Amino acid sequence: MQRAAQRLADGDLVAFPTETVYGLGARADHDAAVAKIFHAKGRPADHPLIVHVLDRDDVEYFAARLGSVAERLIRTFWPGPLTLILPRAQGVAQAAAAGQPTIGVRSPSHPVARELLAQARGLGVHGVAGPSANRFGRVSPTRAQHVLDEFGDAMWVLDGGECDVGIESTIVDCSRERPVWLRPGVLTREAIQAAAGVPIEPPDASAPRAPGSLASHYAPAAKVRLMPGPMLHTALQLLGEPTMKLAVYSRGSLHGVSGAVRQRRMPVHPQQAAHELFSVLRELDAEGVQLIWVEEPPPDPAWEGVRDRLVRAAAS
Ligand code: TXA
Ligand code: MG
Repeated sequence: MQRAAQRLADGDLVAFPTETVYGLGARADHDAAVAKIFHAKGRPADHPLIVHVLDRDDVEYFAARLGSVAERLIRTFWPGPLTLILPRAQGVAQAAAAGQPTIGVRSPSHPVARELLAQARGLGVHGVAGPSANRFGRVSPTRAQHVLDEFGDAMWVLDGGECDVGIESTIVDCSRERPVWLRPGVLTREAIQAAAGVPIEPPDASAPRAPGSLASHYAPAAKVRLMPGPMLHTALQLLGEPTMKLAVYSRGSLHGVSGAVRQRRMPVHPQQAAHELFSVLRELDAEGVQLIWVEEPPPDPAWEGVRDRLVRAAAS
């Protein structure tokens, strides 16, 4: 842990676990260190990164102001899977913010992330920029091995086991007059509105562009098709023997399906489904599956985060 914190202080990369997914970290207050993240991920330099901080105190280094909604959300949900977009303090974290006048900040709850942030802070690091530790556009990692699979064994990864949440943090833009919903996660919009005390608006055309909001993202190598349960059943009946290596990720049990079709059951609870989603996609890729037919999750708000990731995985 000490060596990892020292690496960050020296401007090098360290991948680390958070409660959502693994992040690829570099000190956010050094543009040259942050440039290494963009390079390793193959991420376009105009896509801003989230800065991880130990607590609210460090937010003040990066943000010009918080505002009452941000203060309430921090009090209710930090440390935890919520990222806030705030007006950026002048002259700091230009590279991490990809030149935007705003900065994304979040305080993770994972004990390994917190220990790393605390030790790095002791070495003068104000915050750690950390996008998901995967190559641009691909599935986020939820285990240390996934990070090595993405970047090779030379990458420094702190192994904190499997991530609890499994999908990326909820993002709320608090930099404008009214808070705006940018990315769904496990925290529901209802819960966030209740804590904010004001409605969270849906994103509009003037909202900042975020890579997590590109139509195609979180994509495995296999082609993903998302369909309602009855359509999935019909498709399987019509299929007979598949000519491609096909996997089905469905909520209900399936009868009369060819033994050549790889079957996985989606958990009944949305949080459990989020927890395993990315590792299931990675496992199926590793098995050489070419096509994944996924049953659409229920329209319930609790499923919004998982639905969002599946829609984007299917968009490529
Ligand atoms: O759960 C998470 O948020 C994970 C863990 C590692 O913390 N991180 C993550 O980072 O998902 P990344 O870089 O893969 O996604 C960050 C998202 C992107 O959609 C990005 O555009 C958005 O946050 N974002 C960051 N800063 C922003 C800003 N200033 N304005 C608008 N969007 C921003
Ligand atoms: Mg990402």
